[in-house]
Amino acid sequence: MNRSVDELLQEVNELRRRIAALRSAEAERVRAVEALRASEEDAHDFNEKLTVLHEMTNRLSKAATVDDLCCDAVVLARERLGFSRVGIWFVTESGQLRGSFGVSEAGEVRDERGVERPVLAPAAKQVLADRCRVHVTPDVVLYDHTGTPVGRGNQAVAGLWDGEKVIGFVSVDDMLKPGSLTNRQAELLVLFASALGHLCSRKRAEEERFKLEAQVQHTQKLESLGVLTGGIAHDFNNLLMSVLGNADLALEELPPANPARQRIEEVIAAAKHAAELTRQMLAYSGKGAIIAQPIDFKSLVQETLPLLSVTISKKINVVYNLSGTLPRVNADPSQIRQIIMNLVTNASEAIGDREGVITISADVMECDQAYLSQTVVNDDLPAGQYVYIEVSDTGCGMDRRQSRQIFEPFYTTKFAGRGLGLAAVLGIVRSHKGAIKVYSELGRGTVFRILFPASGGGTQAAQARAPERETFRGSGTILLVDDEASIRDVGTRMLQRLGFSVVQAHDGRHAVDMFREHAASLVCVILDIAMPRMSGEETLVELRKLKADVPVIVTSGYSEGEVRPRFGEAPFDGFLQKPYTHSTLTAVLRATLAPRGQAGTGL
Ligand SMILES: Nc1ncnc2c1ncn2[C@@H]1O[C@H](COP(=O)(O)OP(=O)(O)OP(=O)(O)O)[C@@H](O)[C@H]1O
Ligand SMILES: [Mg+2]
Repeated sequence: MNRSVDELLQEVNELRRRIAALRSAEAERVRAVEALRASEEDAHDFNEKLTVLHEMTNRLSKAATVDDLCCDAVVLARERLGFSRVGIWFVTESGQLRGSFGVSEAGEVRDERGVERPVLAPAAKQVLADRCRVHVTPDVVLYDHTGTPVGRGNQAVAGLWDGEKVIGFVSVDDMLKPGSLTNRQAELLVLFASALGHLCSRKRAEEERFKLEAQVQHTQKLESLGVLTGGIAHDFNNLLMSVLGNADLALEELPPANPARQRIEEVIAAAKHAAELTRQMLAYSGKGAIIAQPIDFKSLVQETLPLLSVTISKKINVVYNLSGTLPRVNADPSQIRQIIMNLVTNASEAIGDREGVITISADVMECDQAYLSQTVVNDDLPAGQYVYIEVSDTGCGMDRRQSRQIFEPFYTTKFAGRGLGLAAVLGIVRSHKGAIKVYSELGRGTVFRILFPASGGGTQAAQARAPERETFRGSGTILLVDDEASIRDVGTRMLQRLGFSVVQAHDGRHAVDMFREHAASLVCVILDIAMPRMSGEETLVELRKLKADVPVIVTSGYSEGEVRPRFGEAPFDGFLQKPYTHSTLTAVLRATLAPRGQAGTGL
């Protein structure tokens, strides 16, 4: 059993080799175990994050608005998912980025909603170019919300998708520990972005729906207010008719020296003021439009100048800026004057006792659909040439919230305001198929631009009828039909004063009977429209059947333009707007009876 030294050495070497192999196998085993443990921890951590993400999505889905959603999302992404700097950006129609909310390394939330800038981050550009879910760029220039470079670091950007479209990005980066974004974090970011994209699109659709619903409700509210104000105004007109008419008659019966005259003149002035308010209400309800005629805005503004100077304080400088030639506009001149007066009065009140400037301009412009859709009246107006009147002032101005409310009837911020001026402007503009643009800055001033479709060509504006002052005497019998006793009473006395005999009827049926009875002596019928039993329209048809050639004057609180179409088959001969005074009644009778050579002297 004698072994040689060599053999022994060989054995020792063999043993050493085996020990080394065992050691390396052991080290390998330890490494594998550690790797396994690390990967288990990683998987465990990832699973936990998935659970957190699930909870987050649930919580975020309850956010009221997209803004709330984004604000919560960046905070949660930092606190619960372990990202360092997080930001959410949306892509605008023009391909720019619009800020939302962000959170800094220190955990402070940044409101970046006002920010709009081009896409700068290479990772975001890559997501758009490759249409991939996420793109990670190691060691790149990082920007703050203004687009200013703030350092270098790792950045991952994931797209917010709405179906096939990228609506925005969520970006995470790490300025303090470059290279620390792991693949797992990138995966987590994709899942987070996918949930966020889904929630944002859903919330946006919901917000859009709420906005539309609110718009519909608002329109319905204004429509019913229109019906209400129209109705009140109509009844008011009847009452005013009685007040004005009786006061008018009383004045004529009193000798010039009677001290009661002044009181009565005040009654008349107050009633006229009330009639003016009624006119604003009728305009708002769209019931005030009379037959439009082609008018020249420039001369209309110039004609209104003398009226304007009375309204405006002496400290205010009025500047006119009227373009040379303007296309004509099919409109009702008295209503356009009403618009100018209402806007200029508001402008002057906005400047108050201070010094200031009101600029009144009239010009023409081409309007495209995009421009018209941004106006206050947005009834799908056609693109084309629009003539506008603009009233701008250097007064107190308004904030955005106030600008949204000013056209609502009865909205006012003034102590003695009625809140009807702009509501009337809106009604008139709507019935003329026009539009309104308002631009206002709190403390700086306001611009109202009222646009009307140019009518192209057209004739000279009709001259306003001169007030009828000459004496007029009538003869023969007039049938006065009205369901309001007070109106029959005052009307009868006015007609008698003119020399007519009067027979009355209190509704349509009664009118037909009276007509039949007095047909031989009747020279005219004055016919109300809204009456019980038989309306004015039906009555007129019946009267025409009995005797076709007796002139009929229709009277109403609504305007002629509103009333005419209702009589389509049976046109009438004259129109008398309530409330009327002795002189308007005279003028209408003259105009109606004169062409027939009937009744009257001094024609
Ligand atoms: N040029 C303006 N500058 C600032 N605020 C304005 C201007 N025009 C209108 N407003 C605001 O809009 C509100 C509504 O105006 P609107 O003309 O409808 O009613 P009003 O002037 O208050 O009363 P009124 O019925 O006597 O006209 C005003 O009370 C005011 O707050
Ligand atoms: Mg006003």
